[in-house]
Amino acid sequence: MLSRLISSTRGIPERNDVPAHIAIVMDGNGRWARKRLLPRVAGHKRGLDTVRKVVKLCVDQGVSHLTLFAFSSENWRRPADEVSFLMQLFMQALREEVKKLHKNNIRLRVIGDLSRFDSELIETIRSAEAQTGGNTALTLSIAANYGGRWDIVNAVNAMLASCPEKRGAYTEEDLAPHLCLADAPEPDLYIRTGGEQRISNFLLWQLAYTEFYFTDCLWPDFDEAAFAQAIDSYRKRERRFGRTSEQLAGGSDKQD
Ligand code: IPE
Ligand code: IPE
Ligand code: MG
Repeated sequence: MLSRLISSTRGIPERNDVPAHIAIVMDGNGRWARKRLLPRVAGHKRGLDTVRKVVKLCVDQGVSHLTLFAFSSENWRRPADEVSFLMQLFMQALREEVKKLHKNNIRLRVIGDLSRFDSELIETIRSAEAQTGGNTALTLSIAANYGGRWDIVNAVNAMLASCPEKRGAYTEEDLAPHLCLADAPEPDLYIRTGGEQRISNFLLWQLAYTEFYFTDCLWPDFDEAAFAQAIDSYRKRERRFGRTSEQLAGGSDKQD
């Protein structure tokens, strides 16, 4: 079990046909709606249907961790009415889905700087996390007001507070436990829908050796076939983690 948490820069993570951890930037909701002459928020609503489907697909395929980018630290820059719709949708989804998630043995948690959310939303998040905290089929992490740079700065501050005496001698191992998702294996597969090929301040540290998969498919259109295509592409990747193909062919693709 512990070997799955091996750092990709410190050792060689286990090779698996089904990714243990998938991280997804769910992009393209607005364009999906605009194409249909609908308001952008209609796309966000449909995007939630895709979330339900993808969660189920992950459970069915034995993916143990799914991390979804729902709202970035930069998404506050959007028009106020879209931001407020997204907050309401988030709250409503948490309330409506938590029972079902719990029934399906799914652990839910929210990563990001929650301090900017109103107290009712924070309470709803905490209660959903508490209710599902012991579940083991899938860990579903929702990134909300999350930014990769925030995550790193937050971890640095926590690290400095926890061992101030180490000044000047900190290592990756000192920092890593303070980052979001420290208890999850690093993502094996990063999927971004919507055609853009960028990270947009998602998991900057955690994606060090993740396989990237970009698709033009808009998030509300991302279905079982599109998901299967992403997994298929992942299966064909040669994950070298700094080594050569010849080394892999020679059988050194094993745990450090
Ligand atoms: C992603 O879809 C959802 C969020 C960022 C909340 P977008 O809203 O970014 O959709 P596009 O990129 O404008 O189509
Ligand atoms: C990234 O999408 C954030 C989420 C999907 C939540 P954006 O649509 O906000 O990204 P940019 O602005 O195009 O980079
Ligand atoms: Mg977008």
